[in-house]
Amino acid sequence: MTKLWKIEPGQAAPDYRELAEAGAMLAAGGTVAFPTETVYGLGADATNTAAVEAIFTAKGRPSDNPLIVHIANIGQLDELVQETDAVSRRLMETFWPGPLTFVLPVRPGAVSSRVTAGLSTVAVRMPDHPVALALIDSAGCPVAAPSANRSGRPSPTTAGHVSDDLAGRIGGIVDGGQTGVGVESTVVAVEAGGRRIRVLRPGGVTVAELKQAVPEADVTVETAAEEAEAPRSPGMKYAHYAPQGRLTIVQGDEKERVSWVLRSLGEAKAAGERTGVLTVAEHVELFEADLVVGCGGIGSMAGAARDLYAALRRFDEAGITYILAEGYESTEGIGLAVLNRLNKAAGHRIVHISQADC
Ligand code: TXA
Ligand code: MG
Repeated sequence: MTKLWKIEPGQAAPDYRELAEAGAMLAAGGTVAFPTETVYGLGADATNTAAVEAIFTAKGRPSDNPLIVHIANIGQLDELVQETDAVSRRLMETFWPGPLTFVLPVRPGAVSSRVTAGLSTVAVRMPDHPVALALIDSAGCPVAAPSANRSGRPSPTTAGHVSDDLAGRIGGIVDGGQTGVGVESTVVAVEAGGRRIRVLRPGGVTVAELKQAVPEADVTVETAAEEAEAPRSPGMKYAHYAPQGRLTIVQGDEKERVSWVLRSLGEAKAAGERTGVLTVAEHVELFEADLVVGCGGIGSMAGAARDLYAALRRFDEAGITYILAEGYESTEGIGLAVLNRLNKAAGHRIVHISQADC
């Protein structure tokens, strides 16, 4: 039986007595899902190999994909890593607590080798969520936590999503309401003596924000080709976030794009598909399909980030077999993370529509 603790959001003076039990479960080697500012994580004591193995089992996650370790105070960092370079420290001062994860040289023996998948580095972050911080504190250990979904499914942004995927498979769920950012943290590695910040996974902290914090460093983003050759962040190589239906991203000039989507929906329907459209709020009325989901708005990719995973889950609930996503092209700001996740959900199926296609 999976235990459920509900924390009322927005309490003026939060009373986290409920978390003592959840913290004790973590300390005793159990698995507990909890909210962060990005998505819900599935936590376990990072120093306890059996506990970490229970995460992989519950999620059905490939064991060569390492986990992020979550901490509640900066003192915990020194116990986990051998050293922290000056640029990483500056970024921590700017963005922690927050959606930024650092890959740093691991202190031998500090965490189970199942957390690092045997690498000489460990990924660490301090989440910006009062419930997450209080829970980690209460557990009294560093908490390894991947997103709390079955492997391959969209990440959970509500306790209900966690329960849909993992009820009966984990020790408990702390329900702290809907998460804020909606996509996972940005994973970075600082290299070349602080002259390069390599973004291994785009996320809640944007490339522009990194550049602003460290103007003298080059900020590079892993391209799809580099990823395929030698994934630096092992999680990048797996199919992720995918709905059960066949999802295709449609890009190009708006007029041509919209008419292509309309025509394709008609053809798919005639072929017996259950059709769906994922689009910006302003375009919802343009389409007729079995399910049209508005997610974000033109120029509001923060809204798209917040609602993306919940939207992808809705297509599964409605049994949609054919899904087109349109209105998502901007890689500005958090748009980069939105397109990265959408791309993976679509298995990199993108069609570019030009006038010649219409
Ligand atoms: O926002 C988040 O980061 C969420 C919440 C729960 O904190 N967590 C999350 O964890 O997304 P997970 O395990 O789903 O993603 C971990 C990512 C993967 O892409 C993994 O490959 C990468 O971090 N990673 C972990 N350890 C690494 C390491 N030592 N070197 C390179 N990449 C690493
Ligand atoms: Mg994940």
